[in-house]
Amino acid sequence: MEFIISNVENLSEVSSHLVERYMNNPIWVFNGEMGAGKTTLIKDICDKLAVEDIVNSPTFSIVNEYMTAEESTIYHFDFYRIEEEKEAVDIGVDEYFYSGDLCLIEWAEKIPSLLPSEYIEINIILQSELERKIRVKQNG
Ligand SMILES: Nc1ncnc2c1ncn2[C@@H]1O[C@H](COP(=O)(O)OP(=O)(O)OP(=O)(O)O)[C@@H](O)[C@H]1O
Ligand SMILES: [Mg+2]
Repeated sequence: MEFIISNVENLSEVSSHLVERYMNNPIWVFNGEMGAGKTTLIKDICDKLAVEDIVNSPTFSIVNEYMTAEESTIYHFDFYRIEEEKEAVDIGVDEYFYSGDLCLIEWAEKIPSLLPSEYIEINIILQSELERKIRVKQNG
C-alpha cells in the first residue's frame, strides 16, 4: 500500500490504515531518513489508540512505554544512538519484542539480527518539505 501525504494533517490516513489492518501484528518498523516523519507518524498512531502519555522519542533510554485508554501497553523504540546490538540485548529487547504488545520501532537498521522475522514495514520517503511518500508492507 502506498500513500502520498501532502501535509502532516493527512497522516491520519496512514495511521488509520495501520490500526485497522495490523493490530494483530505487534512489530511495526518505521524507516526513513532523519526528519522523514517517523516520530510524527508514531505520535499520530498513539493518538488513534488514545494514548494519554506524551509521545516522544526516548531521549535518555532506548524505549518509552505508553498506555492506551484500554490499558494495553505500547513500546516506542529509537535505536539511533546505539553503537552495537549488544546494547539492545542488554536492555532485554527480546522480552519487549515477544511480549505481544505493540512495538513501534525507529532506526531498526541498527539491530538487524534482533528484529523478529515477522513485522510491518513502514517506509517514509521525503518528497518535499511537507510531502511524504509512505509505503506499508507486511514482512514474514
Ligand atoms: N507530510 C508530513 N508527514 C510527516 N511529517 C511531516 C510532514 N510534513 C512535514 N513534516 C514535519 O517533518 C518533521 C519530521 O520530524 P520527525 O521527528 O517525525 O522525524 P523522524 O523521522 O522521527 O526523525 P529522526 O530520525 O531524527 O528521529 C516534523 O517536524 C513534521 O512536522
Ligand atoms: Mg524520530
